[in-house]
Amino acid sequence: MAIQESRAEIIERLSRSGRRGVLRLITCGSVDDGKSTLIGRLLYDSKLLFEDQLHVLERDSKKHGTAGEEIDFALLLDGLEAEREQGITIDVAYRFFATEKRKFVVADTPGHEQYTRNMATGASTADLAIILVDARKGVLTQTLRHTYIAHMMGIRHIVLAVNKMDLAGHSRARFHEIVSQYRKAVEGLEFESITPIPMSARHGDNVTVRSRAMDWHDGPILLEHLEDIDIASDLRSRPFRFPVQWVNRPNLDFRGFAGTVVAGAVKPGDPIVAAQSGKTATVKRIVTADGDLDQAGAGDAVTLVLDREIDIARGDVLAAAEARPEVSDQFAADVLWMHEDALLPGRSYLLKSGTVSVPATVTALKHAVDVNTYEKRPVKQLEMNEIGFCNVNAARPIAFDPYQEIRDTGAFILIDRFTNQTMGAGMIAFGLRRAQNVHLQAMDVTKAARAKLKGQKPAILWFTGLSGAGKSTIANLVEKKLAQAGHHTYSLDGDNVRHGLNRDLGFTDADRVENVRRIGEVAKLFVDAGLIVTCSFISPFRAERALVREMVAAGEFVEVFVDAPLDVLIERDPKGLYRKAQAGEIRNFTGFDSPYEAPETPELRIDTTQATAEDAADRVIAFLRGAGKLG
Ligand code: ADX
Repeated sequence: MAIQESRAEIIERLSRSGRRGVLRLITCGSVDDGKSTLIGRLLYDSKLLFEDQLHVLERDSKKHGTAGEEIDFALLLDGLEAEREQGITIDVAYRFFATEKRKFVVADTPGHEQYTRNMATGASTADLAIILVDARKGVLTQTLRHTYIAHMMGIRHIVLAVNKMDLAGHSRARFHEIVSQYRKAVEGLEFESITPIPMSARHGDNVTVRSRAMDWHDGPILLEHLEDIDIASDLRSRPFRFPVQWVNRPNLDFRGFAGTVVAGAVKPGDPIVAAQSGKTATVKRIVTADGDLDQAGAGDAVTLVLDREIDIARGDVLAAAEARPEVSDQFAADVLWMHEDALLPGRSYLLKSGTVSVPATVTALKHAVDVNTYEKRPVKQLEMNEIGFCNVNAARPIAFDPYQEIRDTGAFILIDRFTNQTMGAGMIAFGLRRAQNVHLQAMDVTKAARAKLKGQKPAILWFTGLSGAGKSTIANLVEKKLAQAGHHTYSLDGDNVRHGLNRDLGFTDADRVENVRRIGEVAKLFVDAGLIVTCSFISPFRAERALVREMVAAGEFVEVFVDAPLDVLIERDPKGLYRKAQAGEIRNFTGFDSPYEAPETPELRIDTTQATAEDAADRVIAFLRGAGKLG
């Protein structure tokens, strides 16, 4: 069953076809638990394998199979491995099958620990998870891990598939022992249903046919359960949510909002609200390419026409007037980190949720969760495949729902602002109240007024570069010259600030991010006071320098790259730190075992092997004058 479509295409197609009549499930377990065999059995017994696939399968099992003359169902999934070898990245394999009652989409992900992110991806669209347990081994760490991730990703229905019952003597007692062990272990997680089924996937027992050997089992068998379980109502019964993709205005007489209904349903006459503004209107028409509809539900892509003009833009959410989403710039969320570069609190990422994109930072990493034991532990940063609970601060308020209530409006991803890579996925838990109760206070004396009194325009002169490059020396000269000319200045310097405000911070990546973020906030206050502030910090990461740049108005942040090659700095070594770093006495030393990301487009670059500090300071002042900062 080769997958010709990319994952994105499949998801796209499925979202077009809607959720009704389709059950999405994810199978969790390892090959050893019989996962491939189970999936193969479901696909094979539902008789919906394509003929040619079946043919290949029969031939291959004769060649490589481990199940004698019987078809080895595990081989059905091994095609994937080949695809992977071809360099096609498939983190999640989607399989399709159908019975007369229902269509099914099975997400299958590798079972190893490092594949947490793959499983989460597969689980994020699933309604039900089949958690496989080997009857001989019982509940394992991975069983708990899979259950936790399934829960976190919003799955409400679990099938506990106790497999290989034939190897456990079809023992009823063993089955019940495992079931109660499992129920106890996952007690803290809420599910709507946990359905335990004893089975033997190899022989098909209780998968698609009821087992004679286990006639004591009075619950449903797997396929029966999958066909009958009611999940479609889950999404339909939610309040109406419609993230606006774009405003469709072909002419003056027509204005519609295009998008996909992600929860609930809507019909003409329904009162709706634009989440961001709180403005209400009534739905007049539901327009599609094939004519108007009298109702649209979750999964339908439509254009909504309202009875009056209200201000709505891409990224806004149209919602049921009586059940509004929350709107806030601060919320708590579970975050699953997917990238090798750790999540660093204080760093600015691009947050994407539905049709909105907004810069955001994790302001507090409350704890990480050990998915094997459900224990919480304090952490400073989040590594790949780790799950943490954090407070998130977005640059603008966004409309959202708790993820566990409505997945589509509660999920987000975090993107690296420089590489555009997806770094993590988030599930919003709740909005933070403090966001509602803290408002900006308008002051009568403004930044402009303060600056005018001083006869200058405020600015941050941000000196970045390796230790010993000459940042502080140049900054000091610049400030001296400005002061002599009657300007109002202040100076923030790495070593000094680390003796006070940032005394609690060291030199890990996470601490450096926080160091620069705080300095940025302080420098911003000085800018607000109308001052010209010099800041001399290694500030090794582009992301945080960009963050500070964004904190102030355009033109107020002047990045000065104080550049000198490492070998020259080792030679200079004014503080003797390079010698210590070389001797291994200091760890995380920038340029050695801690990276420095040089600015790509600084306002000024000063090569201190060429220019004297005097020349450098004059260049900085000339730049300020040229930019009209000095009155
Ligand atoms: S930053 O990376 O967080 O921006 P900052 O500029 O505040 O660093 O502090 C750098 C100064 O701290 C250096 O000039 C040096 O004197 C001192 N220092 C001590 N340990 C280290 C280290 N491991 N890496 C870099 N600088 C260090």
